[in-house]
Amino acid sequence: MKTIKVELGDRSYNILIGSNLLNRAADLLCETLSTEKCIIITNPTVDNLYGNKLKKLLSKSGLTVDLLTVPEGEEYKSLDTAGRLYKELTDCFSERGTPILAIGGGVIGDLSGFVAATYMRGVPFIQAPTTLLAQVDSSIGGKVGVDHGNLKNKIGAFYQPKLVISDTETLKTLPQKEFANGMAEVIKSAVIRDRSFFNFIRENLPAIMKQDSGIIEEMVFRTASIKASVVMQDEKDTGLRNILNFGHTIGHAVESVSDFGISHGQAVAIGMLTEAKISLKMGTLEKNELTEIEDMLSSCGLPTRLPELDRDSILQAIQHDKKVTNGKIRFALPGNIGDVYITDEVEPAIIREALEE
Ligand SMILES: NC(=O)c1ccc[n+]([C@@H]2O[C@H](COP(=O)([O-])OP(=O)(O)OC[C@H]3O[C@@H](n4cnc5c(N)ncnc54)[C@H](O)[C@@H]3O)[C@@H](O)[C@H]2O)c1
Ligand SMILES: [Zn+2]
Repeated sequence: MKTIKVELGDRSYNILIGSNLLNRAADLLCETLSTEKCIIITNPTVDNLYGNKLKKLLSKSGLTVDLLTVPEGEEYKSLDTAGRLYKELTDCFSERGTPILAIGGGVIGDLSGFVAATYMRGVPFIQAPTTLLAQVDSSIGGKVGVDHGNLKNKIGAFYQPKLVISDTETLKTLPQKEFANGMAEVIKSAVIRDRSFFNFIRENLPAIMKQDSGIIEEMVFRTASIKASVVMQDEKDTGLRNILNFGHTIGHAVESVSDFGISHGQAVAIGMLTEAKISLKMGTLEKNELTEIEDMLSSCGLPTRLPELDRDSILQAIQHDKKVTNGKIRFALPGNIGDVYITDEVEPAIIREALEE
């Protein structure tokens, strides 16, 4: 097991990463909190695979456990679902000290965290992420929230968990497409922060694709460490956290123009490659580094070509993105692999050229 200490004063917490950690969840939970009761929130898919088993384990160790399920899908990451969960929490006599343990992907984590942040003005929150994306990205950093109408992720809070338990064995049941989605964020982290990690991924690609336990644990640990270190320096997203947006300025636009038909990870892969092209055009990234990024994305089963979407709509969507300040579009661009810079000096003509290539 590997541990990352997220130091945020009185909101500090540990991220634990390793194989079969869920089997030890009762001990890990009791070492962190003193409680006799716990509420698990999950969805039916994860419940069948892990949730129900976790409930039994926690009950066996003497805890009173209730398990609440939310239907599968991003559309249930909503205020309506939160409202239903508040009612269910009251029905099972959940109190201020009763922790909520979210087990699942980012949808369950974001929604449960939002409920934990707001129910009784905040109850202890524990994350047990079970997708690669959730283990390396969404469970770290305290952004919790729901979607509302076309406001995606815009209703929410900063609310740090008390503990994150990332059991890397759970990734073995993930559909290949979901694993690839997470790989987009893994590659992003290496490109913005750590050249040697980028090399590590390349050298270990066959083992990663075969889900070798030791290599996956190391990969999740190194990616989660990068995000944790950024979050520690910029908890409330007022500066440095911008670097995590590499690939996302264009990625979010692609996602929304495709009406979310293109998944987040795929859109971020396309976004990273297009933004790397912008960096090349601006004279910063080298051509061979662009090729290295492209090769890695395609080896992971991620797209590298922009699908048949209207380029004008994408440009318009970029302008509407929340990263536009004072009419300028903000990008996090790789200077080299392992190093990123923030700029709002990219001319729209260059964005268009990169999109059209
Ligand atoms: N809070 C943040 O900082 C942050 C960052 C990035 C993304 N997000 C959010 O995360 C969400 C996406 O998360 P996601 O990619 O984990 O998607 P997800 O939660 O929808 O999970 C993907 C699919 O995998 C299934 N699943 C989960 N664990 C499984 C397992 N171990 N085996 C088999 N199937 C499993 C789920 O039921 C679901 O069908 C979005 O809502 C996004 O907005 C939040
Ligand atoms: Zn992302």
